[in-house]
Amino acid sequence: MIPFLTEENLKWKELAREVAEKVVRPLAAKYDQLQEYPWEVKDAMAEAGLLGVWIPKEYGGHGAGVLDLCLVTEELSKACGGIGVAFAVNALGSFPIILSGTEEQKKHYLPQIAKGEKLIAFGLSEKFAGSDAGSLRTRAEKSAGGWIINGEKKWTTNGGIAEIYSVFAVTDPESQRARISAFIVEKDDPGFSITKIEDKMGIRAVPVVELDFENCEVPEDRLLGGKTGQGFKQAMMTLDRARPGVAGQGVGLAQGALDYAAVYANRRQQFGKSIGSFQMIQGMLADMSARVEAARYLVYAAAKNIDNGASNISALAAQAKLFATDTAMSVTTDAVQIFGGYGYMKDYPVEKFMRDAKITQIYEGTNQVQRMVTARHVLKGARDLKHLEEFIPNEVQKDVDLGTED
Ligand code: CAA
Repeated sequence: MIPFLTEENLKWKELAREVAEKVVRPLAAKYDQLQEYPWEVKDAMAEAGLLGVWIPKEYGGHGAGVLDLCLVTEELSKACGGIGVAFAVNALGSFPIILSGTEEQKKHYLPQIAKGEKLIAFGLSEKFAGSDAGSLRTRAEKSAGGWIINGEKKWTTNGGIAEIYSVFAVTDPESQRARISAFIVEKDDPGFSITKIEDKMGIRAVPVVELDFENCEVPEDRLLGGKTGQGFKQAMMTLDRARPGVAGQGVGLAQGALDYAAVYANRRQQFGKSIGSFQMIQGMLADMSARVEAARYLVYAAAKNIDNGASNISALAAQAKLFATDTAMSVTTDAVQIFGGYGYMKDYPVEKFMRDAKITQIYEGTNQVQRMVTARHVLKGARDLKHLEEFIPNEVQKDVDLGTED
């Protein structure tokens, strides 16, 4: 067990494990096959108080942190990666309000989310603005009574079933630094609709949709934080806190697939022995286990540091997300390999883990974006390592000094 987990952390982990084993695991295959939202699981999560874990106490939540969000997501994802994100995406949607909302916005929206009465989604990505989130085109223009939004959003998880949406739109197209603002949109706002429900490879228990805004008018008090021009930063600050949740999903998927692979390796007989007695399978299980442990330590440490107010939270979140979700992809793929021909078939549980794992390397910023964020941090930090310069011969600089560089 990780030494720095507190009693409170362990309480959330245990509670989530109970819900995962009693409710999620028995229903995982059903909702994957149906590609329908599991309302009965949502009700069980709400009853256990899980949907308010990350929401501050003064707004009806439990005031727990990013680490608890990761622990709960991990436990749910051990049983079903789709249900893991069905839970965690509410944190992604509500962090903009928690971090930047006005007091009225927080008081109005957060308690409903904490109780599980309403679900929330996050509308940032667009057809032409995925990794380059700053290039989004959805437009919000001032009207007499508020703002009129026109445009569309792509890959919105929880879309259609959510009542509340954190939506990012351009309010000042001429501005370089203050181009985007964030709005709270409600499902019944006129001009707002769901235009496409995606048919997905994995995470099939939760909808991913396109949103359409056609002269969608929202009142003035839906401008997030009451200020324009803050949208890009609000989105990035949100992702810094939500990406560790995806990392937790990765750890859960990897551990869940490893557990199945180990049970199967003990049971499956070939050449008169359990396949777990063969060194090649043992080698795979050992590598899988070491990767899962390393990912878990990294994710918990990153989340704890974020909760403690570390200054480099973008890099912490990015590293945790990229390492844990790359681990999820490799471990779930190896689990399918250990199951052999059976593993490839839908009658067996592990191919679903592999399908669910793939999206974790893509959403909330591709792992290429996470590497970019991490590398920027590393290169910036290297500017403080001037004392290393003298140990690195610089042939080119010598030529420049001598004027012989050509
Ligand atoms: N916190 C606060 N401010 C930040 C910030 C952060 N983490 N990151 C950047 N900023 C600020 C910068 O300081 C800069 O401000 P100034 O102009 O005042 O100097 C400004 O934002 C622009 O920053 P960058 O130049 O770094 O921005 P960029 O255009 O190079 O983009 C990026 C950086 C990291 C690539 C960013 O665009 C990004 O994260 N892209 C991926 C988007 C993403 O994760 N999308 C997924 C959406 S959610 C989803 O997947 C759907 C779902 O439902 C699950």
